[in-house]
Amino acid sequence: MNIILLGPPGAGKGTQARLIEERRGLVQLSTGDMLRAAVAAGSEVGKRAKAIMDAGKLVPDDVVIGIIADRIVKPDCKTGVIFDGFPRTLVQADALDKLLAGKGLKIDGVVEMRVDDDVLVDRISGRYTCAKCGEGYHDTHKRPAKAGICDKCGSTDFKRRADDNADTVRTRLLAYYKETAPLIGYYYCKGSLRPVDGMAGIDEVTSAISSVLDVLGRSG
Ligand code: AP5
Repeated sequence: MNIILLGPPGAGKGTQARLIEERRGLVQLSTGDMLRAAVAAGSEVGKRAKAIMDAGKLVPDDVVIGIIADRIVKPDCKTGVIFDGFPRTLVQADALDKLLAGKGLKIDGVVEMRVDDDVLVDRISGRYTCAKCGEGYHDTHKRPAKAGICDKCGSTDFKRRADDNADTVRTRLLAYYKETAPLIGYYYCKGSLRPVDGMAGIDEVTSAISSVLDVLGRSG
């Protein structure tokens, strides 16, 4: 099964994608994570992307389509993929359809995570992750069980993203409304859109997505 998690910055795509990966054996492909890895490695792609990401704008389509095209041919993607943060433009959506069709595959469903703008800003400004394993946390909504120690790997090292600041969040939201929100109509017209209430607590959102995946699994 191949699904897309579609939603604005801070909607909870990464949080839910990691949970689905653990529970369903699908592979999370986050273009944001891949681009941050490229920046950290100092690769050509990373050098091209860094300033754009820091400003909260979208990296050019050819760069992210190239990253996804290289990744989805890897053997682990055969069991199915959760696309997290991709596609983000109509050009990317069209390219993804073609890449999958070339492998005899398709997108089985698009989970649209609906969250109010004010809540997005709060979620992003309070977000941090474990520097070792990448587990995501929030200053108020999701704290480690033992303060300062990652629940998953026991590390005491945490980090915050360079683009998680109030100014950049507004630019990221603007990019979402201008370039990504049209995908809601695109997938609605294709009959793939499955909206969920992203305002609910993390566990409730997981249950809602799980129900969607169960239905898709039965109909696929
Ligand atoms: P990317 O890394 O994809 O960032 P994003 O889309 O802005 O999404 P976020 O990671 O900010 O949010 P999320 O929805 O994953 O929320 P999370 O689960 O962390 O992209 C970064 C940049 O890379 C882009 O700006 C762009 O420059 C570039 N880029 C990436 N892909 C691209 C593409 N395809 N094309 C062009 N450029 C691209 O949750 C947020 C916080 O809220 C966490 O602290 C979490 O614990 C908390 N939380 C989550 N769910 C809940 C809940 N239900 N209740 C309460 N708190 C919650």
